[in-house]
Amino acid sequence: MPRPEDSGPPELFYNIDEAKKYTSNSRIIEVQQQMSERAFELLALPEDCPALILDLGCGSGLSGEVLEENGHFWVGCDISQAMLDVALEREMEGDVIQSDLGQGVGMFRPGMFDGAISVSALQWLCNSNSSAENPFRRLFIFFTTLYSCMKRNSKVVLQFYPDSPQQAELIVKQATRAGFNGGLMVDFPNSSKAKKVYLVLSCGDATFQMPKALGEDDGSQCVYTANERVRQGRVNKKTLTRKQWVLKKKDRMRRQGKQVANDSKYTGRKRSKKF
Ligand SMILES: C[S@@+](CC[C@H](N)C(=O)[O-])C[C@H]1O[C@@H](n2cnc3c(N)ncnc32)[C@H](O)[C@@H]1O
Repeated sequence: MPRPEDSGPPELFYNIDEAKKYTSNSRIIEVQQQMSERAFELLALPEDCPALILDLGCGSGLSGEVLEENGHFWVGCDISQAMLDVALEREMEGDVIQSDLGQGVGMFRPGMFDGAISVSALQWLCNSNSSAENPFRRLFIFFTTLYSCMKRNSKVVLQFYPDSPQQAELIVKQATRAGFNGGLMVDFPNSSKAKKVYLVLSCGDATFQMPKALGEDDGSQCVYTANERVRQGRVNKKTLTRKQWVLKKKDRMRRQGKQVANDSKYTGRKRSKKF
């Protein structure tokens, strides 16, 4: 199935029609709410103490609603005005700002937030829609500015859909370079439907321990940190055919905004000796 992220810029994908569909589809609402509740749980905020939480890629406010229901205040950022308009129509309590996460969240005061969540938005930063958009740089700017607006010892939990182990690895690496501790946690790693990936980060807490993933009946943790290779499904060049390897590499270069020749039946074929 094609991924929305491959269809072009997010502000065009999340247009008026998509934004309306998003909050009228009961299946989408249920899934987003479940992931938002899990992200909130992983924040592990102190009980009975209202906090100020940043919602990154807040969209129409489904994730923000979970924060409100738990008695917290929130501020949301999103690149799509159509999604934010739906959040305003739904009279969400959070304040929302239209902004591109790839340009960072430097508009907030240092140490302003007690926690941050993001649900189904982070993978969009790994795509480039023009040669000027560099996912490495955008992720780094995003994480460094995020680090600065978080309180010391606070947590950030970002659920996202990596399209490959390499993409997940890049995200963890850029978060760690920006100063965060933590890594990836995968709930229900053996279920194709229930599997969900969370980047759980701590801001300056050297004693931080990754939480336990759900659905791990063998008791082992499914956690990746920046110094570890992403274990599950890591693509080994030797297990791919030459053609698969070339196609994958071309795909990665396209996502990095590089000029790449179109695929054809000759792609990845060995050249005959005549060449
Ligand atoms: C799948 S929706 C999730 C919305 C919301 N978190 C929820 O749970 O309903 C992903 C959101 O990420 C936003 N997004 C994607 N790329 C973004 C970017 N570069 N900057 C800000 N928001 C972005 C989209 O506009 C969209 O609203």
